[in-house]
Amino acid sequence: MSNTPPPPMSLLAELTHRCPLQCPYCSNPLQLDARTTELSTADWRRVIEQAAEMGVLQVHFSGGEPMARPDLPELVAHAVSLGLYTNLITSGILLNPKTLKALSDAGLDHVQLSFQDATPEQADYIGGMAGAQAKKLEAARLIVEDGLPLTLNFVIHRQNAERVPAMLQMAETLGARRVEIAHTQYYGWGLLNRDALLPSRTQLEETERAVAQARARFGTRIAIDFVTPDYYADQPKPCMGGWGQRFLNVSPSGKVLPCHAAESIPGLHFPSVQEETLAAIWQNSPLFTLYRGTDWMPEPCQSCAFKEQDWGGCRCQALALTGNASATDPVCERAPGHSVIQQAIANRPAVPPAFRYRRYGNAETA
Ligand code: FES
Repeated sequence: MSNTPPPPMSLLAELTHRCPLQCPYCSNPLQLDARTTELSTADWRRVIEQAAEMGVLQVHFSGGEPMARPDLPELVAHAVSLGLYTNLITSGILLNPKTLKALSDAGLDHVQLSFQDATPEQADYIGGMAGAQAKKLEAARLIVEDGLPLTLNFVIHRQNAERVPAMLQMAETLGARRVEIAHTQYYGWGLLNRDALLPSRTQLEETERAVAQARARFGTRIAIDFVTPDYYADQPKPCMGGWGQRFLNVSPSGKVLPCHAAESIPGLHFPSVQEETLAAIWQNSPLFTLYRGTDWMPEPCQSCAFKEQDWGGCRCQALALTGNASATDPVCERAPGHSVIQQAIANRPAVPPAFRYRRYGNAETA
């Protein structure tokens, strides 16, 4: 790998950790950024300009719930004016004709709308918010009516896996162009709730069958992205497309991270957009160079034929499960720590325990 890495493809702009939902598999860190520490509109405009200058192609506006920021349409318009593709990742709870029109007028390219389940009762229970599903269904209707391309996102786990066929039917009924059937990732909040979320192998196989049948039925009309659960894989996933290779994450308070969970790794300095440019951080910061490429890899990764396909898996998962972020991802069946995955599956309780909800302003510790 040359000393100057190619620019990232995408900027994940986490505008806020505030969110009306309380999903127990939330991808935000256990310690959430307070509203008072959030970047200003001027800060975000500067970050977007720096992203465009360094060759980023896409901006994903995310959170928390990015629509909680009233300056979202201004930031979308700014990104569009700089030639960036803009995607909104939203719960849809705050979306109404007025807020959608502001985003559509700003030039928004695409909306990714999350659903917690196919039935209102289960969806509201998983998201920890009464009436959420009704708002989301209305949001989907408005988005399609506006003509914006819509992707539905479903996070799959043991408490909703049996309804994957109904979720795929929802995508068709609502007029989505793409649907993500993505099994939960187990770090952060997902790890905290692992026993309540981890599916059985039988459930996984049933979701695979449902996706295969829907693919045959949908043809090219609706694309399906299917993410299998790490714990039933024999090889790790290339998390974020490789550390510091494709994505750049900016947290609500302006920390620049290779992934949304990187702050869980102890002993590292997390650079800020208040101190350096995105390009300088991407190219030279110790955080981004730490696990970029393959030089850092231990055995058995170092001599593995797949090391430039999975890029060593997930550093945050390695830390969470072995206490060492530099260890081989335990998901790999050749990893010295692989038994922790087998134990988690073997010790999965017959009855799922109660969720520990992700509540803003009430951070948990692992
Ligand atoms: Fe941090 Fe996978 S989430 S490397």
